[in-house]
Amino acid sequence: MAAAMAISPIPDPLNLVYELASIVEPMDLAELFPVARPLEVELGCGDASFLAEYARLHPATNFIGVERLLGRLQKLDRKGRRAGLENLRGLRIESAYFLRYLLPPHATTALHVYFPDPWPKKKHRRHRLINESFPALARMALAPGGRVFLRTDDLDYFEQMTAVFAGAPEFTKLETPPALAEITTDFERDFNAQGIPTLRAAYQLSHLN
Ligand SMILES: C[S@@+](CC[C@H](N)C(=O)[O-])C[C@H]1O[C@@H](n2cnc3c(N)ncnc32)[C@H](O)[C@@H]1O
Repeated sequence: MAAAMAISPIPDPLNLVYELASIVEPMDLAELFPVARPLEVELGCGDASFLAEYARLHPATNFIGVERLLGRLQKLDRKGRRAGLENLRGLRIESAYFLRYLLPPHATTALHVYFPDPWPKKKHRRHRLINESFPALARMALAPGGRVFLRTDDLDYFEQMTAVFAGAPEFTKLETPPALAEITTDFERDFNAQGIPTLRAAYQLSHLN
């Protein structure tokens, strides 16, 4: 009986929500994906309404969805498995912590941040993910020439996003490619249905970084 209790549970090999072995060591991407491919990351991916579709359309790229709520990641898992996606994984962790401590440096070719919580009250704005520290985190996470794609419904947050990137000379402003803009998120569809437009911005890290 004692020996039986010592056996640890067999991890479900099909569960797309990856259990981190450590939250103090950078992750080993080879453990997440059966095939090494270029990587893209979505921060605050929600129920993966965007990411599951984007991963289906881009089988030659690996994708990680970072999300703090388990229930939303379970939806990523269901969507990814239903579509048979080998190139999608979810991680339950705080986004800034993930960039700072867990993602190996320069490991991703793109960061997608769509409809991050806007924290509209002035006294709560320090909780916003895209703040003056974000360009430095993005610079550390991105491969040279890597791109950041941002969307929001909130004009005040949009102005903050564009201001912090305007103050980061290693990033150049880009247009969001139409094929990317076409793939909408769950929150985006809700906002657009209420007549609230999507505000988009995109930036590219210099190739010299
Ligand atoms: C407004 S929802 C948008 C979800 C999705 N991107 C979309 O557009 O449908 C924001 C999501 O980010 C997650 N989130 C908020 N702050 C986070 C953080 N610091 N780290 C990880 N996830 C976060 C929330 O749980 C939520 O699912």
